[in-house]
Parts: sequence; C-alpha cells; structure tokens
Amino acid sequence: MRILAIETSCDDTCAAVLEDDRVIKSVISSQTEVHRQWGGVVPNLAKMAHQENIGWVISAALGVNKNNDFNKRMSQIDTIVVTAGPGLAPALEVGVNEAKKLGKEYHIPITVVNHVEGHILSNWVKNVNGKPERNFEFPLLALTVSGGHSKIVLAERVGEYKTIGETLDDAAGEALDKAAKLLGLGYPGGPVIERLAMKGDKDFLKLPQPLMDKKILDYSFSGLKTSFYYKIKDWPKGKVEENLNNLAASFQEAVLETLVRKFKLAAERYKPKMLTASGGVMANRELRKKLRRMAKELGLKIYFPEKKWLNTDNAAMIGVAGYYKALRSEQVENTEDLERKPRWEI
Ligand code: KG4
Ligand code: ZN
Repeated sequence: MRILAIETSCDDTCAAVLEDDRVIKSVISSQTEVHRQWGGVVPNLAKMAHQENIGWVISAALGVNKNNDFNKRMSQIDTIVVTAGPGLAPALEVGVNEAKKLGKEYHIPITVVNHVEGHILSNWVKNVNGKPERNFEFPLLALTVSGGHSKIVLAERVGEYKTIGETLDDAAGEALDKAAKLLGLGYPGGPVIERLAMKGDKDFLKLPQPLMDKKILDYSFSGLKTSFYYKIKDWPKGKVEENLNNLAASFQEAVLETLVRKFKLAAERYKPKMLTASGGVMANRELRKKLRRMAKELGLKIYFPEKKWLNTDNAAMIGVAGYYKALRSEQVENTEDLERKPRWEI
C-alpha cells in the first residue's frame, strides 16, 4: 500500500511517502526560527508557515522533480493519511484541508490519525529495507511526552488505547521550555537545558515532586515551574548566571524523575508485556537512561524510536498509524465531513 502522510499539528510541516510501514521519504520543514523570538509556538504564525510550506514539502516527499510528475506520483498513492488532532486548530486545519483537496482531486481515500497514536507507533516505523523488525507484545504500556502532551497509554492491540495517566496542566516539554525562558535561555528549552544539565549538580536546588500519591498516575508540571520561579526570583542576576548549569540540572531532574516514577507505578499496576517511550522529550539521553534502568528493574523490554528524528514530530509515524488503520478499513466515508479535532482524545 502506497501512503502519502501529512502532519501539521504544531510547528513542523511534515509529509512522508511510505510503502506499508516502510518509509520511502520523509520531509520536515521546521518552524523553530519563526517562533524562537516569541519563546513558544504562536498558532497563527504556525498556520501561515504551514500554508507557505505544505506544497513543496509534499512534492519533496513524493520525489517530484518536474511539474507534470506531481500527477503521476499522486496517481500511485492508495491512501492519504493526515493528523486530525490533537494539536493547534489553525495548524491542523492546513494539513486537513490539503488532504481533502488532494483526496478530491485524485480520488484517493483519506485516513485520519490521532497524533498521539502516531507518537506511540513511531517505534514501529521501518526504513526502506524493512528495518528494524520489531514485534508487538500486548498489553503494551506507552509513555509519550512532548511539548503538547505527556501521557501514559495502555494498548490492548494496535488501534485500541486507554489513557491511564496524563498531565493535568503543562506538558513536560512545555515545562522545560518555560523554565528555559525563565532562565533567559533559547527556544526550544529541552535541548538547551539538557546541554547545561550535563555540567550541573542535580541536587543543587530541592524542588517538589508533584502528585506524590501512589494512587495517582497523572502528571502535573505547572506547580514545579512556579516553585522554581519563586525559589530564584529574588536572586541577583549574577547568581542565576553563575548557576545556570546547576539550575538546569535540578529542574531537569525533577521533571525526568516525575516522568519515570509515574510510568513505573503504571507498569507495576497494569503489568504490561512491554514498554515503549517516544515524543520530543525522549530525545533526552538522561531520560532514556533512567527509563532503561527502570525497565530493567521490572524485567521488561523497552523500545525507543530507532532514530532521533522519529521522537519529534514527523509524518512517517503518522503514515505507519494510518497504515494499520487502512488495514482495518478505517477510512473516512465522506471527506466533506472531515474536520480537524484539536482536542481529540486517543
Ligand atoms: O514532539 P515534539 O517535537 O512536538 C510536540 O508535539 O510538542 O516535542 C517538542 C518538545 C519541546 O518541548 C522540546 O523542548 C522537547 O520536546 N525536547 C526535549 C529535547 N529535545 C526536544 N526535551 C528534553 N530534552 C531534549 N533533548
Ligand atoms: Zn508531537
């Protein structure tokens, strides 16, 4: 099955072409530079950038090199897969409208995918040679953590999911981004904090561990950020600057420990056969190390996406999720009714 996948839920304009679950080509146009000066994603600027880039990103994924080649490449596509939500409404709209337009013009059925399912299945994206070969073992417990969400999801099979824990306020990536902003560091904050934290003392600042109660599997990061703010707000500028590494290390440690602790609790309670972890924040090496250690303690296998770029937003993972949906014949009946779903629960 030849798939064209489109993803525009946040600040990356992405398209990919796949043959079943194998990626032929994946293209990502990042908007980091557009949003950097604002210290976070501005929805309407994201929409404009998606509109500007979606055309060439799709053409590049299709491998088009001449004008009339586009029609030929589209005629080989069996289904168009698009992220319908969750995400920023104005951003999602661009991808959904493009899928509808192309679907109508070329008479191609559309498959809609939930962005979080895409992040979970990013562990099963294969390269053009069909590697890596990975089995599914159910029930499977998945942690997905990005700038937009932090969720623990139990999967009974592909396509059947239950959220058993999620953030009640900020996402973990969002918390890292906000802490970085507070410290006057760059955007996105996660990678900058990781770099500084490597040289810092994680015990420098004692921060609260949110929602310690063992019965609760949800996350909360906004109190952590507020507490961090109050601890350093009266410090002279020089003291903050001298201790950037230590502050980054302490804040990162609090976020990562919280993520791992609740995921471990969930694994002990639901007794899955395997674990997966994905999403933008999983690019963090310290987090992967902590999760590997935790999985080992529980005697469970844990998968991370094979390549670093599969952690952050991309259309390859959306294509794979769409592939499994298309196999189950779950396609949109009437494309006129197809709409973005910014708050779509997995
Ligand atoms: O999945 P993603 O690309 O977009 C969303 O769906 O949000 O995730 C972006 C988030 C940002 O908050 C960014 O700070 C965080 O992932 N991030 C990291 C790292 N790289 C990206 N957080 C911690 N460590 C990293 N190395
Ligand atoms: Zn994402």
